[in-house]
Amino acid sequence: MKKNKISKNWINKQRRDIYVRQSKVEGYRSRAVYKLKEINEKFKFLKNNISVIDLGAAPGSWSQYISSNLKCNKHLAIDLKEIEEIKNVKILKGDFTDIE
Ligand SMILES: C[S@@+](CC[C@H](N)C(=O)[O-])C[C@H]1O[C@@H](n2cnc3c(N)ncnc32)[C@H](O)[C@@H]1O
Repeated sequence: MKKNKISKNWINKQRRDIYVRQSKVEGYRSRAVYKLKEINEKFKFLKNNISVIDLGAAPGSWSQYISSNLKCNKHLAIDLKEIEEIKNVKILKGDFTDIE
């Protein structure tokens, strides 16, 4: 399949995807937020006063969700890509496997 056709298929699939649409309505940067919600509903590990390090955080929906639902001691988000500002989150651009 040609690259152009693959991109069109991806765009069409995104348009139909209920979670993509829901994330736009709710103001989240990606549909990934619903995976975090589902995992947390099962394991209930997100609580107030925890410290969070979000590894590979871009575009940032997990950190958005945590920031707007919890009061964290510390919250750090790291990614190779730029991440737009998120309230109460310290953002670092870099490789999380980098020792420094
Ligand atoms: C699927 S996205 C994460 C989506 C995110 N959980 C959200 O809610 O928006 C995976 C991210 O991991 C990042 N990533 C992969 N390896 C990395 C590394 N070694 N250091 C920093 N970021 C990395 C990629 O750049 C990519 O943005």
